[in-house]
Amino acid sequence: MNLPTEVRYRRYEDWTEQERYAIAENVAKSPWHATYHLEPKTGLLNDPNGFSYFDGKFHLFYQNWPFGAAHGLKQWVHTTSTDLVHFEETGVTLLPDHAHDSHGAYSGSAYEVDGKLFIFYTGNVRDENWVRDPLQIGAWMDKDGNIQKFEDVLIQQPSDVTEHFRDPQIFDYKGHFYAIVGAQSHDKSGFIKLYKAVDNDVTNWQEVGNLDFGGTGSEYMIECPNLVFVDGKPVLLYSPQGLDKAELSYDNIYPNTYKVFDDFDTEAPALTGNAKLENLDYGFEAYATQGFNTPDGRALIVSWIGLPDVDYPTDRFDYQGAMSLVKELSLKDGKLYQTPVAAMEALRKSSEPLANKAETSNTYELDFTVAANQTADLLLFADEAGNGLRLIIDTKTGKIVLDRSACGEQYATDFGRTRSCDIAPSDTSIRLFTDKSIIEIFVNGGEKVFTSRVFPSENQIGLVIPEGVTGTYYELG
Ligand code: FRU
Repeated sequence: MNLPTEVRYRRYEDWTEQERYAIAENVAKSPWHATYHLEPKTGLLNDPNGFSYFDGKFHLFYQNWPFGAAHGLKQWVHTTSTDLVHFEETGVTLLPDHAHDSHGAYSGSAYEVDGKLFIFYTGNVRDENWVRDPLQIGAWMDKDGNIQKFEDVLIQQPSDVTEHFRDPQIFDYKGHFYAIVGAQSHDKSGFIKLYKAVDNDVTNWQEVGNLDFGGTGSEYMIECPNLVFVDGKPVLLYSPQGLDKAELSYDNIYPNTYKVFDDFDTEAPALTGNAKLENLDYGFEAYATQGFNTPDGRALIVSWIGLPDVDYPTDRFDYQGAMSLVKELSLKDGKLYQTPVAAMEALRKSSEPLANKAETSNTYELDFTVAANQTADLLLFADEAGNGLRLIIDTKTGKIVLDRSACGEQYATDFGRTRSCDIAPSDTSIRLFTDKSIIEIFVNGGEKVFTSRVFPSENQIGLVIPEGVTGTYYELG
């Protein structure tokens, strides 16, 4: 939603109780609230931040402007989880209340260091002429959620980057802390800088150099770069804005991509191996995905179900955006797989054989297989007139299509009303989750993923399953 700059950057303390109350009341009116996905209490949710494990729990913050569905003065909102399925807000926020984050506590990461959570993030600072100074800054959070910001800037804007320099991700590689930061060069190409903690002290960072990850620089900015290790292989996840479609075909306004490497040369610095650029997600929205390696070595990721510069039907209810399910990464034959965490099964309340249903809760999981040489045409969020969200699984030609053109309120139609991906023309398994206005589809055990919003009309609650498709329907709650 377009709101004037003065509104979006109004100081938090200037919003009255009445204004906050009116916003919360409006949010409550939406018919599209998710039930088991994390949504903002009010305003806009964008990137996952500070996804980490600390003090016996998982921590996940989200970028938020709490006063409406727009990108304004951002804060981080803290949640914790013990099972990676239920995330509870704790009331802790990383506020834009310091001279070094005066125009927003932008995205970043977190990692436990010596019994405290080290938060590494971008302070968005603008001067009176609205000139931006992007600062990489830090804070400690203790076990009680007390946040203490560092007085010193950790990384200043280097001479070879523009004002677009943000989203530091800290990671441990062979017992040493490193960080990568997304950047734009003066000739408007995206790249990534690598830093190393001097003597492993996270308050002291030294530039190693520009990370060679085989990028062509066709994008104008790389947002939210993340490096995780899956079975020892470095996997780089990033959001290259403006990426040339000749390099990788994608339909969303901005893609979220990944590359699987063989090795990480910390000195060159380079990610090495014959890595191919791939789309992380084939749905209508998944962006700014953040990952980290848990203490027991798993690689977990979570995505923003939303996109920058897109208006959503929920905007009129003063909120926007949701967090995806947490997905665990694995590699099979060099290919990346994303699977929902095992604890998702605990949401299953009841199960029944998959069949047509005139009325569903729009909050369910489906598990089924489509045999080779079939075209399975499913209708979710279906109404009696035969409209709804179409999912076509063609195991003859090897294609999956998600078509939301006849489902509920339309938006972002300039970017098309269908999304698709290629699959091998053979037996294809599908596991999908719906949650009122969200769908997440995992194809062949997570080889391909579609994450999307859909805003059905009130009467779009049915499910139409073609003959020959067998599987299970699970009610979730
Ligand atoms: C990505 C992003 C980040 C930035 C944050 C600001 O969606 O633009 O690069 O830190 O959002 O909210």
